Amino acid sequence: MRERIKTFSNLNLTLENLYNNGLLLMSGESGNPMTIGWGTVGIVWHKSIFTILVRPSRYSFKLIEELPEFTINVPTPELKKEVAYCGAYSGRDVNKIEKCNFHLGRSNHISVPYIKECPIHYECKIVNKNDIINSELDKNIISKYYTQGDFHSVYFGEILGVYKEK
Ligand SMILES: Cc1cc2nc3c(=O)[nH]c(=O)nc-3n(C[C@H](O)[C@H](O)[C@H](O)COP(=O)(O)O)c2cc1C
Repeated sequence: MRERIKTFSNLNLTLENLYNNGLLLMSGESGNPMTIGWGTVGIVWHKSIFTILVRPSRYSFKLIEELPEFTINVPTPELKKEVAYCGAYSGRDVNKIEKCNFHLGRSNHISVPYIKECPIHYECKIVNKNDIINSELDKNIISKYYTQGDFHSVYFGEILGVYKEK
């Protein structure tokens, strides 16, 4: 059973995961998990916003473009192997839910599911999209992260609810 918690009550844990092994972004109605290491959480338009960066080459990009919603799943340290797997393989080629033996839960606000094995999840609806623009970006960042192009799209997800396993 999951209970709703205050939006920012587990922010430290969320950001620590983002910085270390990564969080699991889920997109698509049947759920494709992708590891993310970049993102921000804050307030915009008087809304709580989870911002994610997704490169167009990702299968998740296609899924998000088709259905502008996502869940962010906060893994336990025991899921380190699964998180690495979801960051190395594409849902285009494999069913990562089956490979990782994840079970899906029905979200309260959106049609993208959450991962039951992750004890905290955020439910987000996309309210804005921007693209990282080459000409506006610091040259050092371009040479470090964008030698192949594939500039990220930046999605602003309104956080509709955060839930935690009881
Ligand atoms: C620790 C880690 C963090 C990552 N962060 C991101 C990210 O923030 N944005 C992104 O587009 N890809 C990121 N990736 C790469 C994707 O997770 C990877 O390409 C994945 O296989 C894409 O899955 P998909 O094709 O099923 O969407 C990260 C990978 C790892 C291992």
